Amino acid sequence: MQGAPVVLAIETSCDETAVAMLRGTGELLASEVASQIALHRPHGGVVPEVASRQHLTQLRPLLDFARSRAGIELRDIAAVAATAGPGLATSLMIGASAAKGLALGLGKPFLAINHLEGHLLSPFFGREIEPCVALIVSGGHTMLVELAAFGAYRLLGQTRDDAAGEAFDKVGKLLGLPYPGGPEVDRAARTGDRARYGFPRSMMHSGDFHFSFSGLKTSVRYLLPQLGLDCLNDVCASFQEAVVDVLVAKTIAAARACQKKIVTVSGGVSCNSRLREKLQVVCAEERLELLIAEPKLCTDNAAMIAFVAAQKLARGEFSSLSSDIDPNLRLVAETAIQYSRASK
Ligand code: KG4
Ligand code: ZN
Repeated sequence: MQGAPVVLAIETSCDETAVAMLRGTGELLASEVASQIALHRPHGGVVPEVASRQHLTQLRPLLDFARSRAGIELRDIAAVAATAGPGLATSLMIGASAAKGLALGLGKPFLAINHLEGHLLSPFFGREIEPCVALIVSGGHTMLVELAAFGAYRLLGQTRDDAAGEAFDKVGKLLGLPYPGGPEVDRAARTGDRARYGFPRSMMHSGDFHFSFSGLKTSVRYLLPQLGLDCLNDVCASFQEAVVDVLVAKTIAAARACQKKIVTVSGGVSCNSRLREKLQVVCAEERLELLIAEPKLCTDNAAMIAFVAAQKLARGEFSSLSSDIDPNLRLVAETAIQYSRASK
């Protein structure tokens, strides 16, 4: 792949500043992430103003670092890509403006990339994109998508309220765990009893591919005053099991309904150990191939943005330098899809 074009990608949609350089569609030359978690942790969540200021100071040194690690001069880059949405407006603006400035200065094409398409395709990093049913589970989104080919996506369903990662983070906060709650709940759950509390499995039998997690979070809140501190691991394990049960059941139902042989999972929550474990077991039973990216490609990163950009570049697709960021950018329009109870 020595002669394949190199894409430089910048991701600043939320609280991670990330830069990647990708040769072709599979040779990752550099993928650097400057995490802001420590800065936001005292506030219990992401503070947009703090995030954008941090992107501003971190981006330039991170770019230099990625460039030296990749051994690539800026003039040798074929295109510059950045996340255009969805995300925090003031964060998106920093990465997109920097990418446009670089593209203009270098006289190279600019590519505006959808963050959700980055997550969606991350399980295919370095390999061919194949038809599948994809579960995207992050801090801001929970959705099931039918993927026919690159660019051909159909939204099957999504959360009606909280995203799965948001529920993990809110429950973590209720339990006094540090931000972000997802990895903390996962860790505590490892030694907990998943059957101790029967939390609701909302919309499990709704006959569609939508989700709801806010009622589950409220159930945890109502239970807390009755509990002692020694219950923490059991609450985490029981809560996590309720989330995982619904995610797994709906994903398998979607794969059946769409007659797909491959199931992919992406986004930060796909790092969850119980979700990975249960999906592996159930997909093996159902004779489905399961693709989950390695953990550093699951949480926010620029390699996944570079991967989408490389696909577009190979197809001759570029974006205008006047294209704007969109904090509410969608992957695809919503369509109502029902599946029969017999296919569950
Ligand atoms: O994809 P991501 O890095 O950012 C968004 O696009 O939102 O996902 C971050 C989310 C957070 O809610 C975080 O708590 C969750 O992913 N997360 C986890 C785990 N690791 C990260 N949730 C459950 N278990 C984990 N191990
Ligand atoms: Zn994300």
